[in-house]
Amino acid sequence: STPDSPHPFWQIIRVVPDFPKPGIAFYDITPLLRAHVNAVIDALLAAIPQPVFDAVDCFGAIEARGFIFASLLAGRTGKGMVLVRKEGKLPPPVANKSYALEYGSDTLEMQAGLVPANVLLVDDILATGGTLSAAVGLCEAAGHQVLGALVLLDLVDLHQPLDMPLYTVLQAKG
Ligand code: PRP
Repeated sequence: STPDSPHPFWQIIRVVPDFPKPGIAFYDITPLLRAHVNAVIDALLAAIPQPVFDAVDCFGAIEARGFIFASLLAGRTGKGMVLVRKEGKLPPPVANKSYALEYGSDTLEMQAGLVPANVLLVDDILATGGTLSAAVGLCEAAGHQVLGALVLLDLVDLHQPLDMPLYTVLQAKG
């Protein structure tokens, strides 16, 4: 895959070939955290249309790197967070959903029985869309309304169009 825009973040993101498996290009966005945290949060916030932002109660933080960005967004905006976690981390009652990854498969869980919220899901990277799709199902099972998804980097060729609004900062094609 190659980046299709000259956004300055591309100078900092590392694309690691054949990690964690042969044939997979791993987009490592974590170097952005070294010195560009505020710029990343500025860019994520700028990607959200104002009426959507106004409707958001909580950022839906997807483990693990989504936790970082959702936390920073919540801290900046004063909005809340709900967590989408890997299996076995949350006490009952939980909603549970298995999903396919770009590499392998996994199961996500979300606390059930919380006060319903308007949720904007947050993650670092969108690849096959399996994670986001599972997260939507979990939010609905937990009684929340999903307003859309906010993702730093969209690997546009790896997924079909989503059935929810998608807000992104960077896009790359394969
Ligand atoms: C990565 C990434 C997204 C997901 C995207 O997380 O952070 O959550 O994969 O892939 P998809 O669109 O094909 O589902 P990963 O599962 O590697 O977990 P981690 O953040 O805990 O490392």
